[in-house]
Amino acid sequence: MRTVISGGTIVTAADTYRADVLIDGERIAAIGTDLARDGDRIVDATGKLVMPGGIDVHTHLDMPFGGTTSCDDFTTGHLAALHGGTTMHIDFAQQPKGGSLRDGLETWNEKANGRAVMDYGFHMIITDARPEVIEELDWLVEQGVPSFKLFLAYPGVFMVDDDTLFAVMERAAGNGGLVMMHCENGQVIDTLVQRAISEGNTSPGWHYRTRPSTLEGESTERAIALAKVAGSPLYIVHVTCSEAVEAIARAREDGQRVWGESCIQYFHLTQDDLDRPGFEGAKFVCSPPLRTEADQARLWEAIRRDELEVISTDHCPFRFEDQKTLGADDFRAIPNGMPVIEERMSLLSTDVHDGHLSWNRLVEVASTNPAKLFGCYPQKGAIAPGSDADIVVWDADVEYTWTADRIHSAVDYTNFEGTTVRGAATHVFSRGELLIEHGEATDAATPGRGKFVHRRTFEHGRPGEYLGPKTTTLQEIHA
Ligand code: URP
Ligand code: ZN
Ligand code: ZN
Repeated sequence: MRTVISGGTIVTAADTYRADVLIDGERIAAIGTDLARDGDRIVDATGKLVMPGGIDVHTHLDMPFGGTTSCDDFTTGHLAALHGGTTMHIDFAQQPKGGSLRDGLETWNEKANGRAVMDYGFHMIITDARPEVIEELDWLVEQGVPSFKLFLAYPGVFMVDDDTLFAVMERAAGNGGLVMMHCENGQVIDTLVQRAISEGNTSPGWHYRTRPSTLEGESTERAIALAKVAGSPLYIVHVTCSEAVEAIARAREDGQRVWGESCIQYFHLTQDDLDRPGFEGAKFVCSPPLRTEADQARLWEAIRRDELEVISTDHCPFRFEDQKTLGADDFRAIPNGMPVIEERMSLLSTDVHDGHLSWNRLVEVASTNPAKLFGCYPQKGAIAPGSDADIVVWDADVEYTWTADRIHSAVDYTNFEGTTVRGAATHVFSRGELLIEHGEATDAATPGRGKFVHRRTFEHGRPGEYLGPKTTTLQEIHA
């Protein structure tokens, strides 16, 4: 079926211009004027923006964590994402402790199979690096999973030692993989946490009080130093604070191949939210924790100066009613994570109106850079002939207020309750299929239609420079 999106203003990471978009089958066939012919479906985008769908490269759907499992699966998480204007995500598969990467990938394939509504990829969380696991990293890259996350936090769960980290980095330096780091100093945090508990401090606010930003900065420096010696590229996930931004900025200044991501909640919420009355603060527990207004200002500066390249979500939803309350008497037992996959694009749109970034930069940090850094550009993250027709028609002016009953996630609250935003997806296409029409899911938005995106390795250049996938043209990709 052919569709013409007519009358809209196309916004890409580079350009803003008036043109129509012709979708033929799953891909964009042409951009221009007078493209429609008899029988074509016409979507009127007059007065609207036409952007590549959002790509969220940091999500945790159906993830066992903190003594429970994140409550969105690959259907509810995808429907929430699509309503919010996101058309692809990359989730974290996990090597079982003592197990293989193959086992981890199989488990996550099963979670997605038959449930996915939109396209998705996987990163792999590495929990141990026995010699055979290091060998297996090359296999993983061939499976289209060329990014590996390691943690310097959560001792006894995910945290790895420097030997493990270094071994993975050295392998990634040779196989085209990208190492992703959660940077906090898990051991020192544990000491601070034990002390807080022994002094009778059990409320949610002690989560941020025991995870100071200095330790995120220290751990970011350490990861950068190890990557430098290993010769591997490095992507720091969920950067929250000035100290970590400064470490990344210095490394980039020195020519090291380091990239940084922050998540939209760190720009909009602060640590004060964890001190809300009663147990309400538990809704805001995530790691690293929310920080201060001064940190928010530094994050925006980093986005403007291109010291951070991506704004994702770290969507990791736990219901308040029966999951967050696991930590009612002890903040250590509050499952870490927030639901944000649906709200991200609307908050960014509001940020454009508030002068924090341009529409082009929104597309860049929320779609194009994620696709480039994670090896699926220009199949995704672009409005161009030959690209997948993952497209969002965006009403940049509509105003509304987020409430728990407005969101489509399986979670029972939103961290943005009462927040008024400006901008919403009216129409969302995924590989040419119209899944959201006038803000509502269509019959085409069915579980099982979403496909795994086999991502490619690529040549990393200087910081911020993208040399392109090893296969550079869309014609070669589709050959
Ligand atoms: O609190 C968080 N971020 N939960 C998800 C796991 C992680 O560290 O990314
Ligand atoms: Zn993390
Ligand atoms: Zn995460």
